[in-house]
Amino acid sequence: MVQAGRPAVTPDGPVNPPIVLSSTLHAGGEHGYMRDWNATLDAFEQALGALDGGKCTVFSSGMAAANAVFDLFPQGSAVVASQFSYTGVTVRLKELHELGRIQLRLVDITDDVAVEKAISGDGEPASWVWIETPTNPMMEICDIEATAAVARHFGAYLAVDSTFMTPIRQRPLELGAHIVMHSATKGIAGHSDLLMGALVTNDSALAAKIIDRRVLLGAVPSAFDSYLALRGLRTLAVRIDKAESNAQIIAERLANHPKVSAVYYPGLGGHKNADVAKRQTDGPGFMLSFIVDGDAEDAERVCQAIKLVTYATSLGGVETLMERRRRWPSENLAVPENLIRMSVGIENPNDIWADLDQALNSTGSVNQQTQPKIGY
Ligand SMILES: Cc1ncc(COP(=O)(O)O)c(C=O)c1O
Repeated sequence: MVQAGRPAVTPDGPVNPPIVLSSTLHAGGEHGYMRDWNATLDAFEQALGALDGGKCTVFSSGMAAANAVFDLFPQGSAVVASQFSYTGVTVRLKELHELGRIQLRLVDITDDVAVEKAISGDGEPASWVWIETPTNPMMEICDIEATAAVARHFGAYLAVDSTFMTPIRQRPLELGAHIVMHSATKGIAGHSDLLMGALVTNDSALAAKIIDRRVLLGAVPSAFDSYLALRGLRTLAVRIDKAESNAQIIAERLANHPKVSAVYYPGLGGHKNADVAKRQTDGPGFMLSFIVDGDAEDAERVCQAIKLVTYATSLGGVETLMERRRRWPSENLAVPENLIRMSVGIENPNDIWADLDQALNSTGSVNQQTQPKIGY
């Protein structure tokens, strides 16, 4: 991640890839136009592809990358997906189901038997399986290797949204998945300053279809954002090490806090499928969720009392962010109203904890409407 995607070594040539601002390219080459190829996008794709072990194609957001995969679903075919996923993904899959584009089978992805049943479909096998692990915001763990084996047995493709882990912690292609998807907006770029999505595959036929999706659907990131994302990627290892060790400390302290009734973090012993997480990842990551002892208003109060930590959506930046997920009208109604999702940053863990502890112990009133009008 530090050395990949750099220009060839030439005396007095740049060490970093230049930001190439050109939508069109001189005739006579392989590409010709920026929806297909751009040198700055390519530099980032080389680095991320090397990390995940496949050919990477970038998109203008994680949702654009996800929709490029959804566009590959054969008309009317069955698609298996996690019952909890990033809310935008679930809403979009349900839309496709209602339009008759796919037959959606939502499943508890922590349950291998249920996953196998949904994929086999009692004689009507699925064409695609879309999983997220860990899931947003319930932190459920799916066994990627087992799911890939079942999917391949029934002739289905497996795509894995690996956003919460990043390639430094989880590489689904090595476990048998066909495609790994990242919202590079999050941990990969790492500074909450751009939107970007990526698909990586080691199947050359799929790679050709994916680049076609970018060319035809047109969700291309800018060269400037690709430069920033590559700059962020350079420090991924040190950022994730620090954020993850902070997350472990915060999760353990939350688990012992009288105002917290549950903590979901794969680094805690009692977490469902913690053994699977241990086997398929190189660490529990920087994301956790917890349940405030009380109701939605109590959880809202905690979010509003925070001072150092930021009450905002998104994740994977250097700064600690948290939010009550159910403030979004589109969030899955099975997510508890008093659940707070936290993206742990790289601050001093004692500073994060001191702030969280004072917020949990606060008794102030809820004085601000935080429910967005629209959005996911
Ligand atoms: C797990 C997961 N997948 C996909 C997305 C969508 O990514 P983007 O916001 O870059 O479109 C998000 C965004 O929150 C996410 O958390």
